[in-house]
Amino acid sequence: MKKNYLLTPGPTPLPPLVLEAMAKPIIHHRTPQFQAIIKEVSEGLKYVFQTKGDVYMLASSGTGAMEAAIINILSPQDTVLIVQAGKFGERWTEICNAYSIKSEVLNVEWGKAVDPEVINRKLKGDPKIKAVFTTLCETSTGVATDIKAIGAIVKNTDAVLVVDAISGLGAIDLKTDEWNVDICVSGSQKGLMLPPGLGFITVSEKAWKKNAESKCPKYYFDLKKAKKSLACVDTPFTPAITLIIALAEVLKMIKQEGLENIFSRHKRLADATRSAAKALGLELFAPTAASDVVTAVKVPVGIDGEKLVKAMRDTYGVTIAGGQSEMKGKIFRFAHMGYMNEFDIITGISCLEKVLAQMGYKFTLGSGVKAAEEVLLK
Ligand SMILES: Cc1ncc(COP(=O)(O)O)c(C=O)c1O
Repeated sequence: MKKNYLLTPGPTPLPPLVLEAMAKPIIHHRTPQFQAIIKEVSEGLKYVFQTKGDVYMLASSGTGAMEAAIINILSPQDTVLIVQAGKFGERWTEICNAYSIKSEVLNVEWGKAVDPEVINRKLKGDPKIKAVFTTLCETSTGVATDIKAIGAIVKNTDAVLVVDAISGLGAIDLKTDEWNVDICVSGSQKGLMLPPGLGFITVSEKAWKKNAESKCPKYYFDLKKAKKSLACVDTPFTPAITLIIALAEVLKMIKQEGLENIFSRHKRLADATRSAAKALGLELFAPTAASDVVTAVKVPVGIDGEKLVKAMRDTYGVTIAGGQSEMKGKIFRFAHMGYMNEFDIITGISCLEKVLAQMGYKFTLGSGVKAAEEVLLK
C-alpha cells in the first residue's frame, strides 16, 4: 500500500477542516450568508497580512495577483526595478515585458539574497524607477529576502515596493504595513493551506496614488472594481465561493495558533530539515539566506537528482520538488510549509535516506532522522 505525503512548496497539504468545508453544498454569493463570510475573511486576512488595509481576493492563482499588481500601478514605458534571484523574480520581468514596462533587472546569483544596499544605490541612481519588485521567499532557491530592510529604503523614494509573498505568507513573518510594503501579493496553495485558485493583494495609499495615473489595460484585474465592491461587502465577479468558505476555516485555525507560534513552528521544522541534510553530508543550496518555508539541498555527486525525486514520489509516495530551470537535477527542494508538523518532516527525511541508500550514496543510515529529532526534542 502506498500512502501519499506532500512535501512540495505548493500546493501544500490540506487540513481536514478545509476538506470538510469544501464538501458542503455550494451557496450563492449575492446573499447575506456569503456576505457574512466575506466580512469574516476580510478581517482574518488583515491579521495574516498584518495590515489595516483591505486585502482583495481574486479568483486566480498567485500569478494573477502578480499581474494585477503591475497593471494597477504602472503604464507602458514606465521604468521599474526587479530583483531577479530565481524563477519567480523572473516572472515579474516577464509580466512587465508583456505590458511594455521597462525593467531594470537586478540579477542576484541563485541561492543568494539581494543586498538591500544595492537597491538603495539603484534607486538613487535612477529617479525614474516607479516600483521595486521583489520576492519574500524565492521558492526556486529557498532563499528568504530581507523585506523589512528593503521597505525602509523604498519608503523614502517615490517608488512603491511590491512583494511576491505567494510563498511564505502565513509561514514566515511579513509585516505589510510596518515594513512599508505597498503591494503584497499571495496565493492560496502554500502557507494558507488551501487548494490553488485564490490570489490576494493589498494596496497602500501610496500605491492607490500610482493607480490613479496607471494606463496599463485592465478589466478583470482592475482593482478599482474590487475596491468598490468590497466597500459593499461584495466581489465584482463570481468569486471562488468554495475556496473562500474554506479560507474562513483556515483563518480561524491561524488565529487560534497565532502568527508568532506559526512562525516558530516553521522555523523549528526548517532547522530540523537543515540539520538532517547536513548530518547526511549534503550541502544546503542557500546556507546564508535559507527561508523557513522550503529547504533547497544540492544533489550529491554521483546521484541523479531527478531519479531521486521520482523514486521518493513514485515508489514511496513522498513528493518533494526537484530543481527548476538551471537547477534542474542539481538541487531538490523539501518544503515545510503550511499544515505540517514534525512527523511529516521525519517521514520525508526517512524516505530521503532510504532512496539515497538505495542509490548507493554513502552515509550512516538514520543520521538524518537522528539530527532532525535532536532539533525537534529541544
Ligand atoms: C514565490 C512564488 N511566486 C509566484 C508563484 C506563482 O504562483 P502560482 O503558481 O500560484 O501562479 C509561485 C508558485 O510556486 C511562487 O512560489
